[in-house]
Amino acid sequence: GLPARVRIHEVGARDGLQNEKNVVPTEVKAEFIHRLADAGLHTVEATSFVHPKWVPQLADAEQLMPLIGDVAARLPVLVPNERGLERALALGVREIAVFGSATESFAQANLNRTVDASLAMFEPVVAKARQAGATVRGYLSMCFGDPWEGPVPLPQVVGVARRLFDLGCTELSLGDTIGVATPGHVGALLTALGEAGLGPQVLAVHFHDTYGQALANTLAALRHGVTTVDASAGGLGGCPYARSATGNLATEDLVWMLNGLGIDTGVDLARLTATSVWMAGHLGRPSPSRTVRALSHE
Ligand code: HMG
Ligand code: MG
Repeated sequence: GLPARVRIHEVGARDGLQNEKNVVPTEVKAEFIHRLADAGLHTVEATSFVHPKWVPQLADAEQLMPLIGDVAARLPVLVPNERGLERALALGVREIAVFGSATESFAQANLNRTVDASLAMFEPVVAKARQAGATVRGYLSMCFGDPWEGPVPLPQVVGVARRLFDLGCTELSLGDTIGVATPGHVGALLTALGEAGLGPQVLAVHFHDTYGQALANTLAALRHGVTTVDASAGGLGGCPYARSATGNLATEDLVWMLNGLGIDTGVDLARLTATSVWMAGHLGRPSPSRTVRALSHE
């Protein structure tokens, strides 16, 4: 069966904007986040507290958070290390995410460390965040395929997933960073995780749409009991440290499918589409989302 309700974890302001060539002004980001919340998205990933040289697009995190002010959404942020956690907590952040990799190649490219060393880096971050009362999501990248290593074996993914929960993460988002997954592979991974005691209630899925499979993969995950789905408004996104990563599953495409299935998301599709058209104007290129194009007659 399918769930009655899906929680959308909106990543456009973070995963989307981190990969845009043009740096969006801080005021536009703050307005984007408000418009997303007004469209009914109640979890809006806001930014990352990473090294500004690694992701210059998000170097304004200190200016952005106070500018957002009151908004009817949870605003999780990415944090790689203790320096990032200090910066986030100083601004009153209540939800963080650490981001690990199932493969050594991407751990090196994205975090400048081995898998073991990156988990060691996260350990005090998760502990201190939880002591401070913040919730901690874990991301796991390259759960299906890796641009350097090819297909990633299921036990390798399950092993790193287990370790992220052991550190104290309460939710894990399974990243198809380069968008190579297909629905059978999604089902096989969710089954393997379930056999290791990691059921769909603690998992989220994070699909990039490089090969046009993101929506089919999401449906496969829903059939396996997953109810939290990451998506980015207008299909913005990618990852600057992974070759061949394109945008995330577009939130509008997801909402169109879920509406058709009678699954509640709380999202107002017209308002969301208008927001993505507005953001496309700021980015100077049309949204790649088919639903945005269809609904806005671009
Ligand atoms: P490093 O160079 O190994 O850092 O980078 P370090 O610990 O050796 O420190 C070097 C310098 O950076 C020091 O300054 C630190 O203070 C400073 P110095 O003493 O030389 O003047 N520094 C910082 N400054 C500000 N904020 C910080 C910070 N940390 C250190 N947080 C590091 C290691 C993790 C920092 C770096 O590799 C990094 O920033 N990586 C982030 C990469 C990133 O953001 N990638 C995109 C997000 S992941 C993603 O998109 C995938 C996802 O969507 C899921 C999916 O699709 O699969 C989540
Ligand atoms: Mg991503």
